[in-house]
Amino acid sequence: MAPVKVTKICCIGAGYVGGPTCAVIALKCPHITVTIVDLNKARVDAWNSPDFDLPIYEPGLVDVVKQARGRNLFFSTDVDKGIREADLIFVSVNTPTKKSGVGAGFAADLNYVELATRRIAAVATSSKIVVEKSTVPCRTAESMRTILEANSKPGTRFDILSNPEFLAEGTAIADLFKPDRVLIGSLQSQEGKDACQSLAEVYGNWVPEERVLTVGLWSSELSKLAANAMLAQRISSINALSAICEATGANIDEVAHAIGFDSRIGPKFLRASVGFGGSCFQKDILNLVYLSESLHLPQVAAYWRQVVEMNEYQKSRFSKTVVDTLFNTITGKHIAVLGFAFKADTGDTRESASISIIRDFLQERAYVTIYDPKVEEAQIWQDLSEAAPNLTLETIKKQVTIVHSALEACQQKEAVVIATEWKEFREIDWETVYQNMSKPAFVFDGRLLVDADKLRKIGFKVTTIGRGERL
Ligand SMILES: NC(=O)c1ccc[n+]([C@@H]2O[C@H](COP(=O)([O-])OP(=O)(O)OC[C@H]3O[C@@H](n4cnc5c(N)ncnc54)[C@H](O)[C@@H]3O)[C@@H](O)[C@H]2O)c1
Repeated sequence: MAPVKVTKICCIGAGYVGGPTCAVIALKCPHITVTIVDLNKARVDAWNSPDFDLPIYEPGLVDVVKQARGRNLFFSTDVDKGIREADLIFVSVNTPTKKSGVGAGFAADLNYVELATRRIAAVATSSKIVVEKSTVPCRTAESMRTILEANSKPGTRFDILSNPEFLAEGTAIADLFKPDRVLIGSLQSQEGKDACQSLAEVYGNWVPEERVLTVGLWSSELSKLAANAMLAQRISSINALSAICEATGANIDEVAHAIGFDSRIGPKFLRASVGFGGSCFQKDILNLVYLSESLHLPQVAAYWRQVVEMNEYQKSRFSKTVVDTLFNTITGKHIAVLGFAFKADTGDTRESASISIIRDFLQERAYVTIYDPKVEEAQIWQDLSEAAPNLTLETIKKQVTIVHSALEACQQKEAVVIATEWKEFREIDWETVYQNMSKPAFVFDGRLLVDADKLRKIGFKVTTIGRGERL
């Protein structure tokens, strides 16, 4: 049998991955009908909103959706219809860290993947290529195959592929337009290879052939966890060095520059910061830790666990620096926090370092004013309530104010903390900020964002991650 020519794609999950990924597939493949389905009606409604008020913020995303929506790109809550009509189905549902039961706190919660897989088995009346897009532990495809085969109707066959997504939030559209690589894992049977070719042909509409890598299923699944673990490890490594810089008077920018010039190391992902966030790095490393433990490899598990522990240390070390610098107490003091998203150019707050820092400030009974250009107010309240379960929302609201500009946030404050690297924070009128702050006016740059020397000339007392000049 020749590889199937894909003409109808369904994507289960209209989130940060399913939405942008399949919108780009629709844009680049006008001959393929792409339907993105989700159980969350509010999310689907937002994707369909007449004024393109999409549920997620990504530079360039609105343009893509404007071109393809209604042409060959559709968003729907009718999951069953989407499944039934497609010849290829992406499973792009969430795989958060398990909150309870075996492996709680480490293992991936595969409940959403399982439910989506069971739905495919229950509803499909023709053969499908089922593609794991979600990040999953090694050998999840095996479980999906078992579920599909045990529940399939006669004459219906399912081929499973792994096609992990490597996009980064904030640059998702650029990453999808020009991916470093597309990875497709399949069983090495003829059917598996044919299914792999069908998906490779979809990407072939815009991705050069040499960038589409085909490997075995388990290698593909593990490669996604490995890539995130290696990226996060670089951040924890540079952050570990930033602590040494602060203690010695070395400068982390100079160190990063010097080591990044080594072509074996390279310059990317060497920026020290208040710590990494996002829905993936921590979850995927913990997943790798759990996998290693399950495989009776405790030393391997401990090695990767340390990357996450270093990140926790970096966040709490930063909060402590703020307290120490503000004369060992921030109780009753007013602090502006610029940035709530886990990084610039996204409205996503999952595991944002900002949440940990503000939680620490609340425990110290400081007053916090937050400004972020893209995060919704309701999201901030939800994140802070979850982060500080010992405080009622009413108490949190007495201590926290959310405002709509950086200048407003800094007004009459004793300190400004930069928690997200939004470009606009570099371009604030810092002279005006200084005039309107209580003195001495402190700036804590958790992202190596501002020109510290320029701010010092204005009069600020500036503390920067990884620089020895303590106040
Ligand atoms: N966010 C990233 O940057 C990123 C990057 C690469 C890979 N990933 C991986 O991609 C996967 C999805 O991540 P995300 O950030 O898009 O998650 P998300 O939470 O934004 O989106 C998942 C969506 O799936 C929907 N869903 C869950 N179960 C469903 C079901 N049975 N039927 C229909 N819809 C269902 C949810 O309602 C939600 O809207 C995860 O495994 C994640 O690890 C994420």
